[in-house]
Amino acid sequence: MVQANDPVVLMKQEVGRVAAARVQSDTVVGLGTGSTTAYAIEYIGQRLKNGDLKNVVGVPTSFQAEVLAKKYGIPLTNLDAIDKIDIAIDGADEVDPQKNLIKGGGAAHTREKIVDSLADLFIVVVDANKIVDRLGSTFLLPVEVIPMAVTPVMKKLESLGGKPELRMGMRKAGPVVTDQGNLVIDVKFDSIDNPSELESTINNIPGVLENGLFVGVADIILVGEIIDGKPNVREIS
Ligand code: A5P
Repeated sequence: MVQANDPVVLMKQEVGRVAAARVQSDTVVGLGTGSTTAYAIEYIGQRLKNGDLKNVVGVPTSFQAEVLAKKYGIPLTNLDAIDKIDIAIDGADEVDPQKNLIKGGGAAHTREKIVDSLADLFIVVVDANKIVDRLGSTFLLPVEVIPMAVTPVMKKLESLGGKPELRMGMRKAGPVVTDQGNLVIDVKFDSIDNPSELESTINNIPGVLENGLFVGVADIILVGEIIDGKPNVREIS
């Protein structure tokens, strides 16, 4: 059960609140996926409800974001109906010193990359545990794959030096199935020396839809941390 005074929860809540405060009226907002962004979605909804914000529409990056937006009263739209996304708020699993990311812990990285890349301003919300010197040091790299191609894609990822494993569901028998009906392979690389090159190489494997390396996409990183027992938000821009 989630504890209200759990430091990680406090960091996520605070960073979500600060990100939500950056949203302005009359804008289109990309709504990310994950437990940190969930707080930002909740706070955007609160601001709409109390009249602090007006005329905001959201573009969800996942079924989770869609459900939360409906719960907190944020009207939704889609990419066919808008000219641009003003701001996107999304979480990450790792952030390196160049603001490159690994995403996809929630298997939503394909839609996230589409929405986050289209935003004029992409704000990443993380707790301090996500900051790393080098991508791949704490988190496996998620790769979304069309189901019929799982075996050849795994072999190819091994030939690139990775150790791939098919992501399995929790409280569901069998593999995780993405919002698009595909599967996710998580890959351990001993060292990701060139994230940009690896992102392109993996996406060139036939059957791969998208991988979780986000290179040069993030504009601002908001990092939730605990200082002297209190939550604080540090900005990297
Ligand atoms: C979803 O696929 C991911 O990219 C999430 O944005 C990422 O896993 C961060 O999630 P948390 O905020 O729950 O750690």
